[in-house]
Amino acid sequence: MKVVLLFLFATAALAKLLVDFSAAEGDNPSVIGLRNLEAARSVAQSNNTADLYIELGKDPRNVSAAHFHRIKGDIRAEYHALNKKTVANTTYYIGYAFSLAQIQQSLMIWQFKEYVANSHGGANIPLAMEIVNGRLEFQYQASNGTGRIAQWSTSIVANQTYRAGIVINTSTPGWVQLYWDGTLQTFNTTGSKKLIATTFPGRADPKFGAYRGEAVGIDTFVYDIRIGTQLDDIRAAAGINNLTACGFHPKPARRV
Ligand SMILES: *[C@@H]1O[C@H](CO)[C@@H](O)[C@H](O)[C@H]1NC(C)=O
Ligand SMILES: *[C@@H]1O[C@H](CO)[C@@H](O)[C@H](O)[C@H]1NC(C)=O
Ligand SMILES: *[C@@H]1O[C@H](CO)[C@@H](O)[C@H](O)[C@H]1NC(C)=O
Ligand SMILES: *[C@@H]1O[C@H](CO)[C@@H](O)[C@H](O)[C@H]1NC(C)=O
Ligand SMILES: *[C@@H]1O[C@H](CO)[C@@H](O)[C@H](O)[C@H]1NC(C)=O
Ligand SMILES: *[C@@H]1O[C@H](CO)[C@@H](O)[C@H](O)[C@H]1NC(C)=O
Ligand SMILES: *[C@@H]1O[C@H](CO)[C@@H](O)[C@H](O)[C@H]1NC(C)=O
Ligand SMILES: *[C@@H]1O[C@H](CO)[C@@H](O)[C@H](O)[C@H]1NC(C)=O
Repeated sequence: MKVVLLFLFATAALAKLLVDFSAAEGDNPSVIGLRNLEAARSVAQSNNTADLYIELGKDPRNVSAAHFHRIKGDIRAEYHALNKKTVANTTYYIGYAFSLAQIQQSLMIWQFKEYVANSHGGANIPLAMEIVNGRLEFQYQASNGTGRIAQWSTSIVANQTYRAGIVINTSTPGWVQLYWDGTLQTFNTTGSKKLIATTFPGRADPKFGAYRGEAVGIDTFVYDIRIGTQLDDIRAAAGINNLTACGFHPKPARRV
């Protein structure tokens, strides 16, 4: 069994990650993609400032993290990954490890944001993770004509590390799955673990960090972002580790 697992793991390690950010490895957050800073909506700020920045630092527990910082009133500190690189008929695996210093109403910490079809009927934000009434929701917007509907939620507390695994199939229709702290979740709207969804009305790209929730200053901390095309690509970042059930404790390889 161990031989087989080693072989599988060696094979998996050959896959090239699309995004590979690890704060513990000292990676510059710029490897995530495009930095989007806005004090006011649609007023882009190109450089980090003391009030609004994303830079490698430490969380309140002195753990290395990309620190996303906004003062009260500022609306956006996000990284836009895979800009113009996402395509239809693919399955993306996204691992995202983070903590939030504030649990603030309307704070959106992840989006699968539409860039093409939102001007002609497609959802503006097909998938999102947003704080609503103190809980973190996973939301799906089917089209421009519908709101974002919560499919799942969890209680969440400040300054604790959480690991999400988001699997998105961009076919028409596509589907989505959510792992939370390593466990595949059930969507409460359908009772299923795979939500059939219009994930990719035109071209949607993943965004990470802090958007909206501007009534207070916001600090979020990101430890890992990995994006790949198979589950093995995100096991470490998303805390998914079935192999340990077989007595195998792999240290996932990186940058191969
Ligand atoms: C941003 O930083 C770059 C590099 O340090 C600098 O050349 C540029 O002038 C800065 N832009 C603004 C708007 O401050
Ligand atoms: C934070 O961690 C670093 C090592 O990464 C250590 O040198 C430093 O003393 C720590 N600081 C505090 C306040 O614990
Ligand atoms: C995706 O696959 C469908 C069904 O095979 C096909 O009709 C469509 O053209 C494909 N889209 C792209 C962008 O390749
Ligand atoms: C995406 O899902 C469709 C079914 O909705 C499936 O036919 C297709 O093989 C999947 N694509 C990938 C790349 O997994
Ligand atoms: C989380 O950490 C921040 C920064 O140290 C602190 O301001 C905040 O009060 C903490 N929140 C909780 C609920 O402990
Ligand atoms: C999209 O929805 C918004 C808000 O409901 C509406 O104002 C806009 O006209 C819609 N656009 C299209 C192209 O349907
Ligand atoms: C672990 O493996 C089992 C059996 O293949 C599967 O049902 C389960 O979803 C897996 N769990 C995770 C977290 O991948
Ligand atoms: C699913 O969960 C969300 C968030 O907790 C909740 O608002 C919604 O009412 C639930 N939907 C169903 C069908 O239970």
